[in-house]
Amino acid sequence: MRLLARLLVVGAAAAASDFDGRMIAALEETLRRYPALPKSTEAVARYLDDVLWRPTSSVLVYEGRLFADRRFLDASEKNRKHANFMASVLRREHVRNVAYVFSGNSTGECAADTGIAPCWVIAKARGHAQRGVLVPNPYFHDAAYWEAVRSHVRARAATRPFASRIPRAFWRGHIRDSWHAPEGTPGGGDPCGDEFGNWARLSAVSRSVEDPDEVDVKCWSGAKCAPRDARVHRCDALPYTAAMGAVVEDPSIATDEGGHVAKENFTRYKYVLNLPGSTTGSYSRNLNHLWFLNSVVLFWDAPFVEWYFPALTDGVTHVVVNATTLAPTVRALEGGSLDAPKILEAAARVDEELVCPRCLAKYVRSLATAVRSRFNVAKVLDDPCLAAAFFRSLDCDGLGLVEIHSTVRAASANAFDLSKDRRRLSTSAASTPLIGTGCAGLAEIANASCGLNATGLAHHHHHHHNALFKALRTTAT
Ligand SMILES: *[C@@H]1O[C@H](CO)[C@@H](O)[C@H](O)[C@H]1NC(C)=O
Ligand SMILES: *[C@@H]1O[C@H](CO)[C@@H](O)[C@H](O)[C@H]1NC(C)=O
Ligand SMILES: *[C@@H]1O[C@H](CO)[C@@H](O)[C@H](O)[C@H]1NC(C)=O
Ligand SMILES: *[C@@H]1O[C@H](CO)[C@@H](O)[C@H](O)[C@H]1NC(C)=O
Ligand SMILES: *[C@@H]1O[C@H](CO)[C@@H](O)[C@H](O)[C@H]1NC(C)=O
Repeated sequence: MRLLARLLVVGAAAAASDFDGRMIAALEETLRRYPALPKSTEAVARYLDDVLWRPTSSVLVYEGRLFADRRFLDASEKNRKHANFMASVLRREHVRNVAYVFSGNSTGECAADTGIAPCWVIAKARGHAQRGVLVPNPYFHDAAYWEAVRSHVRARAATRPFASRIPRAFWRGHIRDSWHAPEGTPGGGDPCGDEFGNWARLSAVSRSVEDPDEVDVKCWSGAKCAPRDARVHRCDALPYTAAMGAVVEDPSIATDEGGHVAKENFTRYKYVLNLPGSTTGSYSRNLNHLWFLNSVVLFWDAPFVEWYFPALTDGVTHVVVNATTLAPTVRALEGGSLDAPKILEAAARVDEELVCPRCLAKYVRSLATAVRSRFNVAKVLDDPCLAAAFFRSLDCDGLGLVEIHSTVRAASANAFDLSKDRRRLSTSAASTPLIGTGCAGLAEIANASCGLNATGLAHHHHHHHNALFKALRTTAT
C-alpha cells in the first residue's frame, strides 16, 4: 500500500513536469542523430576546433561569459538579438561551457552545419526531422524585456474576463508575394518554396469574408495586403479558392485599416490565431505573445516547429485549425463541445512553464547540458589548463573576438520604455573587444584559473597538451 502511494506521488510529479520531460526527450533524440565522439581529449579538441571559429556563426559560452567574433554581430540583426538574449540568459542561469554555431534562418537551414556539431537553429520549417537543435527565436529580445512585456500584457488580460470578450478568432498581419524567379535566373530557386505562409495567411483572411461571425482575421493595412496573383505566378501545390481569389482582386475586403494592434489589445478576443510567417512559411514571432493573453490559442495547420513544440498537444494546449475547420472550431468552443476553460488552463501552463523568461533561460541551460554531454565538451573546456592550451593552439588568425554583455536596466521590470528599448535591442548588442589578438584573450581567462591550481595539474596538463596539439595539427591538414 505504502509503495503504491509512493508510486502515485511519483506519477503526479512526473505529470507536473511532463512539459520539460518531453522537450528534453526530443532534444536528446535530435542529438542522437549526430555521430557520437570517442571520449578522448583529441576527439573533443577536434570537435571544438570544428565549431570555433566560424566568424559569422560561432558562439562560445565560457566561464559564464559570452564570446563571438565582431562579424557575428555585424552579420545580421537576428545574430545581435540572439547575442542579447544569450547574454541575459547567462545573467540568470548558470550555463556551463559550450561552443556552437548559430543560424537565425527561419527555415532552420544552417550554412555552417559541417555535419559534426549541431547548429543551434530558431525553428525548423519542415518539422523535427530537420538537422540542428532548437533554441528560442530571437524575438523575446532579452529576459528583462520579455518579463516587462509579459507582465504588462498579463495585467491587461486580467482586466478582461474571458466570457466578456469578443467571441471570434483574431489575427492581424500582412501578406506578401514571396514567389521567386525560377531556377536558372538571377536570384532564382524554387519559385513557390517560400509561399506557404502567405498562402496560409490568404486562406485564413478569406475566412473573414466567408464567416465574419466567427473569424476576424485581417491584414492591418491595404498597402501590406499584397498576396501573389496566381494568374501571373502559379503555385500548383498551393491552390486558391474563389474566396482567396476575391481577396487578391480586392484586398480591402480582408483589411482592417485600424492598423497595428498592440499585443495588450489581443486580450479583447477569446480566440487568437497563429499563422505561419510570411518570409518562408515557418514560425511567426506573433506566437511568442499568445500564451499569456488568457485567450484560446489556435494554430494554423503547418509543419514548422519551435523548441517547445514537443510539449504541446493539439486539443489540450491549443487547437489546430485549417480553412475548413476554423469557423466550426470557434462554434465548438462557444458551444462547449470543446472545453475552452480547460484549454485556457493548459495555455497558462505553457506560459508559466515553457515561455516565461526564467523558462527560456532554464531551457538554454538544458540545451547546453545536453550538447556538452553528447560531445564530452567538459573534457577540454572545463579543465582550465587544458582550455588555455586549447585556445593557444587554435587557429584564430584574423579574429576580432568580443565579449557580449547583457543589457542592464532599472530594477523594476516596468521601469523602461518597451518600444524604445526594443528599437535599441534590435540594432545593437553591447560588447567589448578581448585583449590581445586571436584567441589570446580566451587563453588568458583560462590560464588565470589554471594558475590557481596548476601544481596539481602539471603532469596531467603536459600529457593532454600533446594530444591536443596532435589533434589540431591533424585537423588543420
Ligand atoms: C535560409 O535558408 C534558405 C534555404 O532554406 C536559403 O535559400 C536562404 O538563402 C537562407 N537565408 C539566409 C539569410 O541564410
Ligand atoms: C487598445 O484599444 C483601445 C480601444 O480600441 C485603444 O483606445 C487603445 O489605444 C489601444 N491600446 C494600444 C496600446 O494601442
Ligand atoms: C482540414 O482538416 C480536416 C481534418 O481535420 C480535413 O478533413 C480537411 O480536408 C482540411 N481542410 C483543408 C482545407 O485542408
Ligand atoms: C581549479 O580551478 C578551477 C577554476 O577556477 C576551480 O573551479 C577548481 O575548484 C580548482 N580546483 C582546485 C583543486 O583548486
Ligand atoms: C598563466 O597564469 C600564471 C599565474 O596564474 C602566470 O604566472 C603565467 O604567466 C600565465 N601564463 C600565460 C601564458 O599567460
